[in-house]
Amino acid sequence: MAVESKVNRQATCSAPVNIAVIKYWGKRDEKLILPTNSSLSATLDQADLKTTTSVALSSEFDSDRLWLNGKEESITNPRLQNVLQKIRSLASERAQTDEEKAVLDAHVHIVSVNNFPTAAGLASSASGYACMVYTLAQVYGVTDYELSKIARVGSGSACRSMYGGWVAWNMGTRDDGDDSFAEQTHLADHWPGMKILILVVSDRKKGTSSTSGMGTSVRTSELLQHRITEVVPKRMAAIKEAIEARDFAQFGEITMRDSNQFHAVCLDTYPPIFYMNDTSKAVVQMVTQYNTMKGEVKAAYTFDAGPNAVIYAMEDAMAEIASLTSHFFPSTTPDTFFRGTTTAPPAPSAELL
Ligand code: DP6
Repeated sequence: MAVESKVNRQATCSAPVNIAVIKYWGKRDEKLILPTNSSLSATLDQADLKTTTSVALSSEFDSDRLWLNGKEESITNPRLQNVLQKIRSLASERAQTDEEKAVLDAHVHIVSVNNFPTAAGLASSASGYACMVYTLAQVYGVTDYELSKIARVGSGSACRSMYGGWVAWNMGTRDDGDDSFAEQTHLADHWPGMKILILVVSDRKKGTSSTSGMGTSVRTSELLQHRITEVVPKRMAAIKEAIEARDFAQFGEITMRDSNQFHAVCLDTYPPIFYMNDTSKAVVQMVTQYNTMKGEVKAAYTFDAGPNAVIYAMEDAMAEIASLTSHFFPSTTPDTFFRGTTTAPPAPSAELL
């Protein structure tokens, strides 16, 4: 008599946010999420901004279900479906035992929680998809695959949160995306004392999503074409050298110039997109004046698709920047508060709890 195999597997993992210093902005393939330029970031420490995801896989479940930050959401999101399909097809290639085959018929329940505001330009999709892919890979037994390629089809920047320390997403040239994945360039402890400060200027959901904003930029911005062909390839090489040499002045200048150019591309987009607000601009001025006073670049700002500021600095300079910040942007100001500092972590960042 054949005994039907039952499946009950579960895992809980967490993955941190990453902050790009060379920005990803533009896709050459919207479904596979293939970028128009390479990018580079540092992954934050597990103790700071992160997503925690639990996945349960069971023959008892009637359907796949998803809960985000305590609320049930539709599982039909096409990006999420692409991720699930890819993981399941890898599991099907590997299935040998009855239990492994039964896994393919079982349904998943996914529960994901961020410890920071979602979709406020704080890279929630990056840690969210990185964590989901990593946790799904545990329960489906497909951890031998280069998982950053799957995280990438969830959200481009998510592929960089699959590793700790300094991480490059090499854009690749293939149409199938097989050479478009993340790799760690340096361990976090390569550059001891590096700190990242996140100033939450606003925790409201952003007006123009990265996905739609970069689509409009690709169609309309001439500056973006110049950035793709002339600027980013040189900057990728230069920032890797600066990190390798632990040269903060070089690193900081490239970081600020890249953030400036990304926001210039947004302004060059038609119709234009504004992510930085007056508070963001005041942070730029504060950092610029601090560097002028010091006579060299000791702190570097960078802004993603939202008004929140991120400042990179070495520990000693960061202590001064933090007190300047609380002086100029006191936490009593309604939409400006101090979030905390963090160091970049050792790899891998998505650890199994
Ligand atoms: C400005 O990764 O959120 O933060 O691939 O469409 O999901 P999708 O976009 P997303 O874009 C992030 C853009 C950025 C720069 C960066 O993180 O490199």
